[in-house]
Amino acid sequence: MLAQSQPAAVGESSSAALLRVADLRKSFPIKGGLFGRAQAHVKAVDGISFDVRTGETLGIVGESGCGKSTLARLLIQLIEPDTGTIALDGSPMAAGSAALRVLRRQIQMVFQDSYASLNPRLTIEDSITFGLKANGTDRIEAKHRAHAVLDMVGLAPDMFAQRYPHELSGGQRQRVNIARALALGPRLLILDEAVSALDKSVEAQVLNQLQELKQRLDLTYIFISHDLNVVQYISDRVLVMYLGKAIEVGPVQRIYNAPLHPYTRGLLSSRLSMDPRRRVSAAPLSGDPPNPIDPPSGCRFRTRCPIAEPLCAQREPGLVAAGDSHIVACHAQHSGSGHSLAAQA
Ligand SMILES: Nc1ncnc2c1ncn2[C@@H]1O[C@H](COP(=O)(O)OP(=O)(O)OP(=O)(O)O)[C@@H](O)[C@H]1O
Ligand SMILES: [Mg+2]
Repeated sequence: MLAQSQPAAVGESSSAALLRVADLRKSFPIKGGLFGRAQAHVKAVDGISFDVRTGETLGIVGESGCGKSTLARLLIQLIEPDTGTIALDGSPMAAGSAALRVLRRQIQMVFQDSYASLNPRLTIEDSITFGLKANGTDRIEAKHRAHAVLDMVGLAPDMFAQRYPHELSGGQRQRVNIARALALGPRLLILDEAVSALDKSVEAQVLNQLQELKQRLDLTYIFISHDLNVVQYISDRVLVMYLGKAIEVGPVQRIYNAPLHPYTRGLLSSRLSMDPRRRVSAAPLSGDPPNPIDPPSGCRFRTRCPIAEPLCAQREPGLVAAGDSHIVACHAQHSGSGHSLAAQA
């Protein structure tokens, strides 16, 4: 059985991995008490390993608080992991390493809040050139580049370069954030709820634009969203997270048409039950996720799982291959695990 802490997941080819994440962990201290000492730790990301393949869109889904944004912030080196490694094209992104500065530019992120991401006192052009100049690009070249990326996201530089964020619509501001991320010439773009705040029609336009940019610039995407329909539309593969861990990873069709983890089934059934042709038998999720300060023993989904057995409290299931490029962390899916629904070894 492959433990989650091993670097490569089963069924993932190493040659095509742009990003390789191994056993990444990050916990946050919760301060309290008389002297403000750390009383406990929230295990926001609790041992995640996965690959992002060159040219793909990897969707990441999971309930609020499961650690998606913390994972994204770790990947762009906004925060440091407690343990674990991130490698881009085989080069480890180690803190303090000379290569880190170069590698860092290659991963950029677009956040949900288009307004908070932009300095209200800077023009759109200055917002975009700021990062470029900080990275050593000269003024003329930075301006040239800013206009080029504005053009790419469908905002005519003549009309938009000198405007301020408050003079733009939400959709236009989010295009500026995408342009700013592209200005640094990334290979991997992390989109954390990047279109979630937009009206549906604007969202569709921005999504189409992202698809087009991906082709044109040979980009790879990590796409984080609450919206399971959007994730299905845009992703090649999907990683499902629960309480700081990856519990199922696979091609989008397999995850949506034949989910194996009871959590994935529950998550999807709340969505599919709206459509009678696609009604699935799994019950939608009930209750809230347990507290990430003190996750349940064994499988952390067991407290909400319709098929949990005593074994699930005792042993944590690792991510194991369940078909072509499909991996799942559930005893019921692992032959010989001892779960009554598992095949005999
Ligand atoms: N700086 C922080 N200090 C303390 N706890 C934090 C911090 N950042 C995140 N957390 C906690 O870590 C857990 C994961 O949070 P995170 O924002 O990564 O979840 P998420 O999956 O992005 O949620 P959402 O879908 O709501 O955006 C949560 O319990 C959250 O409260
Ligand atoms: Mg988040």
